[in-house]
Amino acid sequence: MSEIFTKAMARNIYYGGSAFFILLFLALTFDTTMALPERDHRENITPQVAHGKIVWETNDCIGCHTLLGEGAYYAPELGNVYKRRGGAFIKAWIKGMPTNVPSRRQMPQFNLSEEDLEALVAFLKWTSEINTAGNWPPNIEG
Ligand code: HEC
Repeated sequence: MSEIFTKAMARNIYYGGSAFFILLFLALTFDTTMALPERDHRENITPQVAHGKIVWETNDCIGCHTLLGEGAYYAPELGNVYKRRGGAFIKAWIKGMPTNVPSRRQMPQFNLSEEDLEALVAFLKWTSEINTAGNWPPNIEG
């Protein structure tokens, strides 16, 4: 076996294999890029949704929560919190923090304006409508 496996063959496998997988990678990247607009419903990103994302980021919600699986594992997944609780609950919850229940983990008070709260709800509603293809989050409690 070792006599017939030449350097030229090894080189061909190296270059051929690399070319194949680079092309496969490019094709899959292209496919994902084409599928995204339909799945993330970007046509629904209003200025309010965009503002909600800024509120989300500047208050570091992701420092405790996950959003569609990404983030910290201290607090509940919020990718589907809009479907789980609805907008009125989310606003009342954020305004009512902290609960100061000793046995529960605590979320701080952010003192957000009504406009910021509405925007956060719009952002979480938009997030809950993303088609994650893998049915994520796996259940309604996150
Ligand atoms: C310091 C950590 C921390 C940060 C930062 C934080 N949260 Fe929370 N959040 C929690 C914890 C802990 C809970 C669950 C508390 C409980 O169940 O008693 C929670 C619960 C929630 C819930 C209710 C979830 C449910 O399933 O009922 C919502 C909505 C929420 N947070 C939104 C936010 C938003 C929006 C931000 C950013 C403005 C944020 N949180 C920032 C810790 C945090």
